[in-house]
Amino acid sequence: MGGIMTNDLHEANRLSWNAATVAHNSHKGDQAAFFRNGASTLYPEEIDLLGDISGLDVLHLQCNSGQDSLSLARLGARVTGVDISDEAIAFASRLSKDSGIAATFERADLFSWFDDARSAGRRFDRVFASYGTICWLSDIKTWARGIADVLKPGGRFAFIEFHPFAMVFDPGWKPHYDYAPKEPVEEAGVGDYVADSGEGLAVDGYEKGVVDFKNPHPSFEFNWGIADVVQALIDAGLRIECLKEYPYANGWVGFEGMRDLGGGRMAPPEAMPSLPLMYAISAIRP
Ligand SMILES: C[S@@+](CC[C@H](N)C(=O)[O-])C[C@H]1O[C@@H](n2cnc3c(N)ncnc32)[C@H](O)[C@@H]1O
Repeated sequence: MGGIMTNDLHEANRLSWNAATVAHNSHKGDQAAFFRNGASTLYPEEIDLLGDISGLDVLHLQCNSGQDSLSLARLGARVTGVDISDEAIAFASRLSKDSGIAATFERADLFSWFDDARSAGRRFDRVFASYGTICWLSDIKTWARGIADVLKPGGRFAFIEFHPFAMVFDPGWKPHYDYAPKEPVEEAGVGDYVADSGEGLAVDGYEKGVVDFKNPHPSFEFNWGIADVVQALIDAGLRIECLKEYPYANGWVGFEGMRDLGGGRMAPPEAMPSLPLMYAISAIRP
């Protein structure tokens, strides 16, 4: 990894996400019709964290193809979604138009977006990030400072993420990876986890779409531990209101034998002890 700048790693991830996003959306059917029929992709956990967002300015970090952004807009928020992937932002903008749900989508590396937003004095009532976001970011302190800077005083950061402890296991539940490694981990590329999770992530019914997807672009992950995240938010001046852990992962079939507890809450096989698979943080800018 020597000599590679973290910006280059973000750029490598952009290419990998562009390719994977095409595969992911190929399994999700007519998403505009899904939204026109009044549906939402949000889980109860994030709705609880966000509270009432009607009439509020909400910033959605790493929004991918905008399904959750449009679901937030449906709840009455003015939503801005940001993502580095060209393919994801183009898809999100089309989905907004085709579904008739207004939202703004901006393509940028999150760190340069924060710099620009800070200079322009942009401020939001809520900042939201969910499920598979910080593992793509090379610096957790820059992330936390960016969030604090774009929140209005009294504004809230609502964050829900897969638990870093779960990332020590390989797909067969064998402990294999270090917890919260300090170095980026190179992977074969963003995979087709939508295909792996079936109905879990293709909520309007799973379609075959792209078969046996192989990503031609490698990806680089940064698995931040709970202490890294909490300390970065504290150092950025945010007041943590709650930290929760969940013994299931919403929609994600990341390991062998996962079972649905109901509502897409995926838990380890019954024979295994309970493990933390997701966590959530709510933090206020004083
Ligand atoms: C697992 S997806 C998040 C999906 C999200 N939960 C949603 O609402 O659908 C991770 C996203 O992070 C984006 N991403 C990765 N690195 C980024 C960066 N440096 N800046 C902005 N977005 C980035 C990817 O393009 C991808 O869309």
